[in-house]
Amino acid sequence: MCGIVAYVGSKECAPILVEGLRRLEYRGYDSAGLAVHTGRGVEIVRAVGKLANLDTALKKQTLAGTVGIGHTRWATHGRPSEANAHPHVAGKVAVVHNGIIENHVALRKELEARGVRFSSDTDTEIIAHLVDEAMRGGITRLGEAVRTALKRVTGAFAIAVVSGDSPDEIVVAKHDSPLVLGIGENETFAASDIPALLAHTRDVVLLQDGEMAVLRKGGAEITKISDSTPITRASKRIDWSPTQAEKGGYKHFMLKEIHEQPRAVEDTLRGRVDLQNADIVGAEIGMTDELAKKITRVYFVACGTSAHAAMAGRYWVEALAKLPSTVEIGSEVRYREPVFTSTDLVVAVSQSGETLDTIAAVKTAKAMGAHVLAVANVLDSAIPRASDGALYTHAGPEIGVASTKCFTTQLAALLMLAIYLGKRRGTISDADGRRLCDALWHVPQQMREVLLKADEIKVIAKKHMRARDMLFLGRGTGFPIALEGALKLKEISYIHAEGYAAGEMKHGPIALIDEEMPVCVVCPRDPHYEKTLSNMQEVKAREGQLIGICTEGDFEVHRLCSGNEGGPRSSRSGHVVTDAPDVIEVPAAQPEVLPMLTVIPLQLLAYFVADLKGTDVDQPRNLAKTVTVE
Ligand code: AGP
Repeated sequence: MCGIVAYVGSKECAPILVEGLRRLEYRGYDSAGLAVHTGRGVEIVRAVGKLANLDTALKKQTLAGTVGIGHTRWATHGRPSEANAHPHVAGKVAVVHNGIIENHVALRKELEARGVRFSSDTDTEIIAHLVDEAMRGGITRLGEAVRTALKRVTGAFAIAVVSGDSPDEIVVAKHDSPLVLGIGENETFAASDIPALLAHTRDVVLLQDGEMAVLRKGGAEITKISDSTPITRASKRIDWSPTQAEKGGYKHFMLKEIHEQPRAVEDTLRGRVDLQNADIVGAEIGMTDELAKKITRVYFVACGTSAHAAMAGRYWVEALAKLPSTVEIGSEVRYREPVFTSTDLVVAVSQSGETLDTIAAVKTAKAMGAHVLAVANVLDSAIPRASDGALYTHAGPEIGVASTKCFTTQLAALLMLAIYLGKRRGTISDADGRRLCDALWHVPQQMREVLLKADEIKVIAKKHMRARDMLFLGRGTGFPIALEGALKLKEISYIHAEGYAAGEMKHGPIALIDEEMPVCVVCPRDPHYEKTLSNMQEVKAREGQLIGICTEGDFEVHRLCSGNEGGPRSSRSGHVVTDAPDVIEVPAAQPEVLPMLTVIPLQLLAYFVADLKGTDVDQPRNLAKTVTVE
């Protein structure tokens, strides 16, 4: 996610801005820049790569001044380059932005029709031109020019704006992207996150969505963007350490990222789910309707958690687009002699976009004429670059090695892809299109409801933290969720865990079941519910310790997961078995979106077990965030 810092006061601002951006490096970026009032108007310096490159550029072009804005860019629209780095300038106006302008294509066309020439591929530059146009049109106050501009914009934004005509002030605004104000002694700050402020002030004001502020040395004037209503808001005192602040007050990045999932999915759906036409806007996929109809097979290739997302995607593509589909592990594809054809759609799923095993498979598929689509989280990474098109997840940088928000945004992207293909192939009715798009739109709020169960999940984790083994079962799209739950637990708590198709229980794993074996079953009310319930009964009959993930109000699962009537007892290994049912409920939802809900309890279960065991949750032993080796 991009980082914004803004300063207005009496000190030289360039060093303050760069240091603030350094405090936001954990957010991930690929370019950076500053815009400062230097007395000769607003001057900018930008550089691709890390802040060290910006430092070098600033040595060549000093920006002396006490009012300025800074930015680190995590590329979403437009590849990483100096031209696409922020700040973006139009006339005397410079803008930095974090977010996604949904109507950027229409606004760009409108501005170009009025003679505006763009110098970047970004959505952000549009804001600069709209503000400049407002000022050229006679609006003299920068705040009002920004307000006018923002009323044309839809989407997510946190922005900071300076103008050569307003040397003593900065205008900031927020909608759906983070922005916080810092109130100092005769100086005022704004930043994307608190760590950038703590070296200067601990008194912060949290701007709310739909609000803007004019920053001056003496303080900030907050108003509603829509109607200029003045807003008075008391500052809060932050007592976090800088490290705590980088984690947003969470103990680990992984926990922060688990809780970021509703926002990450919202950002991934943004501008793509067309509720009105019950369709997916997929221009960026780079696949013509003709090609979508010509495809005869969809071949997913991925590794690890991304392979689990691909497995869910396979179910959706088969069911919704009626296309034969398969999922292959990257490391297996590259060492087999796979057969690809020109009517294959190969979907390469990878959060880093750099996994060597997956890249190798992509190159093999390309060489054999397949059409390759990347589903990745890092813009312009190796896999999207090697593919014919890319459907990006907008999860923002994922710091924890164990993937969480990238996984659920991959699920959202792959379900959108299945709908996109189904609509073009005429295999999805309008009614189903509406049902699915509506179900997708409600997922972020439903995820928030599941996250409220964190304390219940922690209690369950405490009961099972000493388990030597754990089994995860699921059917249909619940099966890849079971695999993902097992992977999460083993990779961060080091407890051996296995995910299994619930229907396979009778073909072997049932021999493992006894009172020592916690068995976590993904059993929401989906088309496989009754059969999965009977698997739970089989586990209970053998005194397995059931953990149920079910739809809210499912008393049958509660009954099955309740301990024995005899009350708390200790098992051979000292487990305390109580009667409290180990059940985590998720909201009722359309079957296709359930995986995005049922995985959250499993992520939190793994997290709490690992945290209770004291393992290195964010950097588990032997693991790397990006596996660029064979
Ligand atoms: C996920 O929790 C693991 N860290 C790992 O399995 C990961 O999913 C795998 O290495 C694939 O990475 P990618 O998504 O970047 O390709």
